[in-house]
Amino acid sequence: MDLMEYQAKELFAKHGVATTLGVVVETAEAARAAAEEIGGVTVIKAQVKAGGRGKAGGVKLAKTADEAFEHASNILGMEIKGLTVNRVLVTPATPPEEEYYFSFLLDRSNRSYLCIASVEGGVEIEEVAKTNPDAVRQIPINALEGVTAEKAAFIVDDAKFPAELRDQAIEMVQKLWEVFVEEDATLVEVNPLARLAGDKLEALDGKVSLDDNASEVRHEDHEAFEIREEADPLEAKAKDLGLNYVKLDGEIGIIGNGAGLVMSTLDVVAYAGENHGGVKPANFLDIGGGANAQVMANGLDVILNDPQVKSVFVNVFGGITACDEVANGIKGALEILGDAASKPLVVRLDGNNVDLGRAILNELNHPLVTVVATMDGAADKAAELANA
Ligand SMILES: Nc1ncnc2c1ncn2[C@@H]1O[C@H](COP(=O)(O)OP(=O)(O)OP(=O)(O)O)[C@@H](O)[C@H]1O
Ligand SMILES: [Mg+2]
Repeated sequence: MDLMEYQAKELFAKHGVATTLGVVVETAEAARAAAEEIGGVTVIKAQVKAGGRGKAGGVKLAKTADEAFEHASNILGMEIKGLTVNRVLVTPATPPEEEYYFSFLLDRSNRSYLCIASVEGGVEIEEVAKTNPDAVRQIPINALEGVTAEKAAFIVDDAKFPAELRDQAIEMVQKLWEVFVEEDATLVEVNPLARLAGDKLEALDGKVSLDDNASEVRHEDHEAFEIREEADPLEAKAKDLGLNYVKLDGEIGIIGNGAGLVMSTLDVVAYAGENHGGVKPANFLDIGGGANAQVMANGLDVILNDPQVKSVFVNVFGGITACDEVANGIKGALEILGDAASKPLVVRLDGNNVDLGRAILNELNHPLVTVVATMDGAADKAAELANA
């Protein structure tokens, strides 16, 4: 789960990272009140899970409460990278004298953690990495050793933080590492990490991604970060039903059992789609083992509610859950859904008890269901139907 800036700052504050929380509001009127309460110059910041908010006009200085109202009215409802701004953060303006960049992240390709630090922050760090790569320090972190005081000092010196800030920076690096480890994050990023008046270091922005696998069992409090109306409604529904679903952008709904099979189904369908007007998979959905009628119905229900879906490809390899159980699951699902099942289903069954499974579907003889023996053949049929 990616957090909004204000949520990331809440976690920072919890772990003693210097930051200013500000006030999150959903109306321009509330922004005015917040600015009045804070007093002086404030900053109105769009809260969306996208980068480049400043560039898009989503970060504005307000000298008065009326100006805060003005900016908030403009920013609320604005679209940034396709995301609508539903809330803004009103926070005291603390003009940075210098802007640095700092992050910890999971480096999947090296199966390790990585620290990225630069004294040339504020702007897009990707740009700095291109134009002045030496200024962006990448320091691997040994997961077992973590970030000790010595390691933090090494990072701060390697990135060439100013000497006057050295002790503060070392402390900040250790606390950010604490956020990363204790909250089970996969990303903790501060850009800008700002040098404020009086040589004070502060996180002026924050980006945190939490590992959902850990959140579910180790951090009950992380649930509070979920903002329902910001989530994709189909993904939210699938989550409530306990389904492993990811919305994609195509027209062919996909249901399979086992993540590997579903991944390869996405590939095969995308490939088949090239012959049928470029149709693509509409989602990833792994119903796992034990796909009984209810699980199948839940899966179909989510997929059929996606207005983009034109056809559905059910690709199941019978293992512990045999093909006849899956076929009965599909049959039951069609009964449960009734008229709600309105789009053609292409079913490919193979594996344990395949003959029995296919016989059940053939006997069902449902007008929406086509049984195809091979995965490639079924993908082609599903693409053809989606393009019809
Ligand atoms: N509280 C503040 N007071 C003064 N200036 C600020 C404050 N917060 C941010 N700024 C300025 O605005 C710039 C952009 O802010 P911020 O980093 O939060 O957004 P962004 O970088 O545009 O968004 P994103 O990180 O999503 O790309 C900062 O680099 C900083 O110069
Ligand atoms: Mg930023």
